[in-house]
Amino acid sequence: MKSIASASEADTQRAGAAIGKAAGPGSFIALCGGLGAGKSVFARGVARGLGILAPVQSPTFTLLNVYGEGRLPFYHFDAYRLDSEDELEALGYEDCFFGPGVVVIEWAQRVMGLLPGDRLDVAIREGEDENRRIIRLTPRGEQAERLLKEARL
Ligand SMILES: Nc1ncnc2c1ncn2[C@@H]1O[C@H](COP(=O)(O)OP(=O)(O)O)[C@@H](O)[C@H]1O
Ligand SMILES: [Mg+2]
Repeated sequence: MKSIASASEADTQRAGAAIGKAAGPGSFIALCGGLGAGKSVFARGVARGLGILAPVQSPTFTLLNVYGEGRLPFYHFDAYRLDSEDELEALGYEDCFFGPGVVVIEWAQRVMGLLPGDRLDVAIREGEDENRRIIRLTPRGEQAERLLKEARL
């Protein structure tokens, strides 16, 4: 487990970018935290770390955004408005979750049962003032442990 104190949006994006740079085929990042915690900021960092320059927003209504222009395919999920796990099935989530790309899922706590066992859990919570956050990264499995070790955090 690693805990990071973020003092700004830029800090959080940088942490995400460090993970994105170290990510390999099959890296899975499960983001937990409430509304406005900074999950999308972190996800944007992961995208930048993969070499994706396109705008990255929460796929709140579409559930999934796919980016093909980076070093690896990047699948950005958001489970906030998910009504049932069937909706994820309909999207063909398994091809993304267990494929050669990199996955980030926001509101991962809503679909815990579907997540791969080897993943990096990233929990973001409020800090002592408006712009502070505590980011806790917990590797579940060997691949996630390697990812966390290789990321320069
Ligand atoms: N340290 C910080 N890390 C991340 N976001 C921060 C931080 N401080 C302030 N913010 C603000 O909090 C908001 C986070 O938004 P967002 O990433 O969309 O949240 P979420 O996806 O978790 O709902 C942004 O408006 C951002 O500017
Ligand atoms: Mg979001």
